[in-house]
Amino acid sequence: MSISIFQRNIEYAKELDAQDELKAYRQQFHLPRQADGQPYIYFCGNSLGLQPKATETQVLQELTDWKNLGVEGHFHAKNPWLPYHEFLTEAMANVVGAQPNEVVVMNTLTVNLHLMLVSFYRPKGNRNKIVIEADAFPSDKYAVQSQIRFHGLDPELCLIELKAREGEVCLRDEDIQQVIEQEGANISLIVLGNTNYYTGQFFDMKQISEWGHAQGCLVGFDCAHGAGNVPLELHDSGCDFAVWCNYKYLNSGPGGMGGAFVHERHIGQKNIPRFEGWWGHNKETRFKMRDAFDPLPTVEAWQLSNPPILAMVAVWSSLKLFDEAGIYPLRKKAISLTGYLEFLVKSLGEDIVDIITPSNPDQRGSQLSIRVKKADKELFNKISEEGVIADWREPDVIRVAPVPMYNSFEDVYLFYEILKNALAN
Ligand SMILES: Cc1ncc(COP(=O)(O)O)c(C=O)c1O
Repeated sequence: MSISIFQRNIEYAKELDAQDELKAYRQQFHLPRQADGQPYIYFCGNSLGLQPKATETQVLQELTDWKNLGVEGHFHAKNPWLPYHEFLTEAMANVVGAQPNEVVVMNTLTVNLHLMLVSFYRPKGNRNKIVIEADAFPSDKYAVQSQIRFHGLDPELCLIELKAREGEVCLRDEDIQQVIEQEGANISLIVLGNTNYYTGQFFDMKQISEWGHAQGCLVGFDCAHGAGNVPLELHDSGCDFAVWCNYKYLNSGPGGMGGAFVHERHIGQKNIPRFEGWWGHNKETRFKMRDAFDPLPTVEAWQLSNPPILAMVAVWSSLKLFDEAGIYPLRKKAISLTGYLEFLVKSLGEDIVDIITPSNPDQRGSQLSIRVKKADKELFNKISEEGVIADWREPDVIRVAPVPMYNSFEDVYLFYEILKNALAN
């Protein structure tokens, strides 16, 4: 659907909804409601995804099994807890485009990032630097800085921050390439947010991995804003590792569990440094409790603890919907929804709004970051009062994410009307 054929009226938006092959999924989520019972226009799925209706029943199933079976639930629960994480693996691998042996749901994002840094940040001589984005998510920055210090090195000297050009917000591919090529021999690891949390810019992971590998660097991605949003094709990208959370586009609930990907070329490597725990040990002998660590022959070797079933069930419940809907049909709808939003917002005029997210659909997911010129939080408060749930970033950016799983074209149109009216007032 090209931008030029979009129309600016509610009937047209409703028509697009009528034609939407994924429209039924909206009914499978709890939409937060206003006092009058009307659903909010929820554009914050890039921050916290909505609750699938099925999640409650599935959590209750685990509570019931725990109530009735106690410890026996590890073997005799409807979904036995011992191998529980395995039930999620294939669907998770489909969402992120990886082989099942490369993907595991475990821990939370920052914890997984630390575990990956232990394995993939191996400073040696002058090759001791980490490349990140200057506006990387703060937790990522804290993690890499603390890992640099953990190796007795100085973050002031070992961190290379990729900055957008003067007057620009998004990074240019050629500038990323230039830094990698210039600093290549000094770089141990490149870690980028594959979809930047602020600008919504989506990076070409395959290209960046190739540039990094050509210089002998390892390459990893924080896919917090990419997982469940864009098809990541992690295996084919060739990146060494990736980590993500599942509570944004993947709807696993506040503080829900994270995921990790390790490319198969690293799996089974004997000399890889790794922090280890009993859930990474050979399943056949795990309960003998005595053997020396015998790592599982998959990314599961990075698991530490037996997983929290009550958190994992929420990831599973959402993954079932992704498995059904398919990441590629979702992406197709996302391109139309986001394109429609862009078309409407741009019609407000360049003197009023500036969309800082790239306009090329290949360089963005479902999020648009809209800089509203000469506006402050007052404007955001107004649209919130009118029923929009979005996200405000000081000093002047509204981040909105029309999520294909549960947002509609009508949501997009109503948001535009509300924003237009708030600007007019
Ligand atoms: C891009 C990005 N990285 C890292 C994090 C931190 O995630 P967690 O609190 O699950 O470790 C977030 C959280 O929103 C994020 O958006």
